Amino acid sequence: MAFAENSKLLFEKAQKFIPGGVNSPVRAFKAVGGNPLFIKSAKGPYIYDEDGNQYVELINSWGPMILGHANEMVQHAIEEALSASLSFGAPTAREVAIAELIVDMVPSVEKVRMVNSGTEATMSAIRLARGFTGRDKIIKFRGCYHGHGDSFLIAAGSGALTMGTPDSPGVTQGTAKDSLLAAYNNIESVEKLVQENKDKVAAIIIEPVAGNMGCIVPEEGFLQRLRKLCDQENIILIFDEVMTGFRLARGGAQELYGVIPDMTTLGKIIGGGLPVGAYGGRQEIMDYVSPVGPVYQAGTLSGNPVAMAAGFAMLQYLNTHPEVYTQLEKITSDIVEGIQHNLRQMNLSYTLNHVGSMFSLFFTSHEVTDFQSASTSDTAKFGLYFRKMLEKGIYLAPSQYEALFVSTAITPDLVNKIVQANREALKEVHER
Ligand SMILES: Cc1ncc(COP(=O)(O)O)c(C=O)c1O
Repeated sequence: MAFAENSKLLFEKAQKFIPGGVNSPVRAFKAVGGNPLFIKSAKGPYIYDEDGNQYVELINSWGPMILGHANEMVQHAIEEALSASLSFGAPTAREVAIAELIVDMVPSVEKVRMVNSGTEATMSAIRLARGFTGRDKIIKFRGCYHGHGDSFLIAAGSGALTMGTPDSPGVTQGTAKDSLLAAYNNIESVEKLVQENKDKVAAIIIEPVAGNMGCIVPEEGFLQRLRKLCDQENIILIFDEVMTGFRLARGGAQELYGVIPDMTTLGKIIGGGLPVGAYGGRQEIMDYVSPVGPVYQAGTLSGNPVAMAAGFAMLQYLNTHPEVYTQLEKITSDIVEGIQHNLRQMNLSYTLNHVGSMFSLFFTSHEVTDFQSASTSDTAKFGLYFRKMLEKGIYLAPSQYEALFVSTAITPDLVNKIVQANREALKEVHER
């Protein structure tokens, strides 16, 4: 892209020193073509690249920038924490405060342990579920992504799917055989696995709204039936709310759908953008983790004071401003309705999935309810659409298999800008 010359030069240099030039695969733009943008700064609804170009943000650091970038209240909390040093490796009052707040906000969480990423949260959660139940197997859903832990890199979504490596080399057969695969929104596929592996399944882990094969909504009753099955079979139900936690509602997707899992994994938003993850759940399960219980899990930087300060400021704000969720819903609905209008005007029957402030436009006319239907999307067309949107100043996730995230910083004028860019980009994609 000629307009991003500095990004191009940086990418060339980056590839000499960093595998693929990036520190997380989707960032390389491989699925959409062109060079990745190197980002210099961001504020409110905008992100700026190294060439000084301005884009409207619909990634928002893959979720956490729920109030837009460089929010002053969060920045202020970080500044205050900075002057008291960066890390102690010892307990702090801030960790107690944020734990109390998370327990208050997330229905399933009676106790919570802080870690440093979503990946760490999910890896730790399944270890605990296995230790607690004395069972080895887990059930995950095709196309769901739970970070890059070995047990989850089997039919994984997100970057693994985008890069064509949903089953990663390096995961041993022994590990892979303990991860059983079900189809999203298909309770029969789960029941079958449970029956075939009677008393062997420790946990079922699911994104209660999938965001890593694009945005996919749980069908009516699906989560409820999973809950019932887990109760009948003494299986631990884990909701991976790394994306949906504090985003879809104050208490995440579990509050929105009224289904309470045994354990929940969280990330991103609880650090206000700094590297934080957490796992929590029923007290009797959480008390099975070290130092009270026998399941080991630890971290030098866990509960880092600066990250806790940022997270606490963010969560406290969300906890006391319920209007954030109506605002997010309104902005997203306006964008989605605008895109739907464009599609109708152009006689395009593409599928648009939407829950709260997450949405995806799939380049397929199939209803998208699971990995298989998501895979019918025309990814080449999506790539072209992505590049056209970028040229028009809209920063989308660089893959068909990712959800978009809206922030409260998006104004009505920016909604119009996004919808207009969508109209023009769709037109250009289909004129070819
Ligand atoms: C649902 C879900 N779980 C886990 C993860 C992994 O989190 P992290 O990238 O912080 O390791 C992600 C990352 O996007 C995610 O979307």
